[in-house]
Amino acid sequence: MMRMYDIILKKREGQELSTEEINFFINGYNSGAIPDYQAAAFLMAVFFRGLNDRETADLTMAMCDSGDRAELSAIPGIKVDKHSTGGVGDKTTLILVPLVAAAGAPVAKMSGRGLGHTGGTIDKLESIPGFNVALEPKEFIEQVRRVGAAVVAQTGRLAPADKKLYALRDVTATVDSVPLIAGSVMSKKIASGADAIVLDVKVGSGAFMRDNNSAFKLARAMVDIGNKVGRRTVALITGMDQPLGYAVGNALEVIEAIETLKGQGPDDLMEICLALGATMLLLAGKAGSTDEGRKKLLYLLESGKALEKLEEFIAAQGGDPSVVREYWRLPAAKMTMDIPAPASGFVQAIHAEKIGRAAMMLGAGREKKDSPVDLSAGLILNKKTGDVVTAGETIAVLHTNNLSSLDKVGKIVQSAYAFSEKRPELLPLVIGSVQ
Ligand code: URA
Repeated sequence: MMRMYDIILKKREGQELSTEEINFFINGYNSGAIPDYQAAAFLMAVFFRGLNDRETADLTMAMCDSGDRAELSAIPGIKVDKHSTGGVGDKTTLILVPLVAAAGAPVAKMSGRGLGHTGGTIDKLESIPGFNVALEPKEFIEQVRRVGAAVVAQTGRLAPADKKLYALRDVTATVDSVPLIAGSVMSKKIASGADAIVLDVKVGSGAFMRDNNSAFKLARAMVDIGNKVGRRTVALITGMDQPLGYAVGNALEVIEAIETLKGQGPDDLMEICLALGATMLLLAGKAGSTDEGRKKLLYLLESGKALEKLEEFIAAQGGDPSVVREYWRLPAAKMTMDIPAPASGFVQAIHAEKIGRAAMMLGAGREKKDSPVDLSAGLILNKKTGDVVTAGETIAVLHTNNLSSLDKVGKIVQSAYAFSEKRPELLPLVIGSVQ
């Protein structure tokens, strides 16, 4: 008879686990037969000893098969999905869903909520009054057929073992492990049924992967798993050394996403959206090359067609489409506070995780899995890496309804900024790709 104790010990000693042993762990943990303390010990053993490619693929498929698989075959065309490994100020999904749908590629997307210092698309969408993220499978498919795009929250039925393990990893310091992230992301993506997958693997101070070497390793592991099960998968490795764009926090990010669809978005956000969007069009068969994809996307942005698609998409999911022109309809915080620069010079770096934590303390994120979120809370950065500042000038503006944490958060934001006399070298945003 198999025992969880022996499996933990085997991995602790650095030995390879069989497919049966991995299935035994996932099935037992999913059903409640294996307790959290044994699962936690197992995760820590994996964190230090790793999993080889075969073990990682087995873990992924076991988590994928722990629940239902979405059935998207009723939607004609190549369905393409996109997933980011998590960042700060990362509102690319809000932009890419209408943009790629406007180019004719059907987007049937399941997204997550924010956890830890990183934000989640579902919370952002919920800041739009009336927006419903809980469509029934039939409604979901019907909407993609009619509008070209739908986004729903990950349900408990989809890769439930991942949902449970992710929450456990979050509180046992075992999130930032290549095989565990690869299994978590790919089990969900495979279960949610898309034909092709574009991954945005973030690297830097705001990402789970802090160096290029581990980011490329993670990308390779995920792409190999996707391709092995017949889903064309491409990963872009992109910089998360400072927040993406200027806005961090749910409603604030929705406004920045709308501005981007109006062609007035920040350069870094625009660059990432074009790179990911062009790859999505290529995989969906809507462009012959990424260059052609970029041109199509730029046309859809300039002609206002992408913005029109956003309005259609919001209305289809019960939201108020007039938010696209009237930002006052979105939740707004009662209070704002300017944060002055503590020094003069060039902004040399902005520690993205600290900014993410600051936004969370203002109310934008969850302390615990089920805590409520203040959709209006967050912050707007006035200065990004490479900008010149003078001491006392406003570097960021806090938005909150929670007075008590303002001073503490102000100090964290100031400490996230590093200044230098020399202009810093700006790193490329798209660092590489794996396919
Ligand atoms: N995103 C996921 O879905 N899972 C992880 O483990 C990390 C980022």
